[in-house]
Amino acid sequence: MTIPWLSFLLLFSFPELLLSAVVMLHSLEIYTTHEWFASTPTVYFQCSGENKTFLPDVKRKNTVYTFRGEESFQPLTNFESTKCKRCGFYEEDRFTSDDVFDEWEFCPSDFKSDDGRYIRAKGNEFNATFLCTECVKKGTLESSDNASHAHDKGNGMHWSMKLIIAISVVASTILLIIGFIVAYKYWLKRKRQHEQARFLKLFEDTDDIEDELGIGPLSDSI
Ligand SMILES: *[C@@H]1O[C@H](CO)[C@@H](O)[C@H](O)[C@H]1NC(C)=O
Ligand SMILES: *[C@@H]1O[C@H](CO)[C@@H](O)[C@H](O)[C@H]1NC(C)=O
Ligand SMILES: *[C@@H]1O[C@H](CO)[C@@H](O)[C@H](O)[C@H]1NC(C)=O
Repeated sequence: MTIPWLSFLLLFSFPELLLSAVVMLHSLEIYTTHEWFASTPTVYFQCSGENKTFLPDVKRKNTVYTFRGEESFQPLTNFESTKCKRCGFYEEDRFTSDDVFDEWEFCPSDFKSDDGRYIRAKGNEFNATFLCTECVKKGTLESSDNASHAHDKGNGMHWSMKLIIAISVVASTILLIIGFIVAYKYWLKRKRQHEQARFLKLFEDTDDIEDELGIGPLSDSI
């Protein structure tokens, strides 16, 4: 009885309660720099409403920088729900506003491959590989039925369905338990009666036999 309950609770709490899925930058290659005068670009990653993550190692274009996930700037960001974030790679500009490599809707559902990687490349701007293993675990669970479908229902009427399911599961579980208890009590009672009856019958039978053969309890002492 505990197993259906557990899986049910998981299902119930899953979509909105993705605790935290950290996103690492696995590799980055830039194909261009936007500053005309600067010798080395200052590249950073940022999601709207969050702090800038500077990537001090990324200095030259057409060079693949690979990261291990332990660098001081990691993780780049983390997803606390299935909602997308508006994120991008930028280059700091000393004179005007910062230049944009690319800005896009970054979503946990982007991480579809088994190893939790997501490659984002843009023309002659950059090629980046992100890593988010928690996103994949989440993704596979969600895409087990139609993913876009699940997304649509996810926030709207889904909770009321869940509530109804929850109530019926609770109700049927309680009924089942009560049923078990009643049945068990009845069985115990029947068993006791049966044993009493057999016990009495046994006594009567042995009494009869012993009387007939003349070897009752008293004849033993002879
Ligand atoms: C953003 O930076 C500020 C100051 O540097 C810091 O206090 C804050 O905790 C940072 N926020 C996050 C989400 O890292
Ligand atoms: C981007 O980088 C990844 C990993 O380094 C590589 O597999 C992929 O082919 C690259 N994509 C492009 C468009 O260069
Ligand atoms: C989800 O359903 C739509 C149409 O209902 C279909 O086009 C799409 O391929 C399905 N996606 C998956 C992952 O099954």
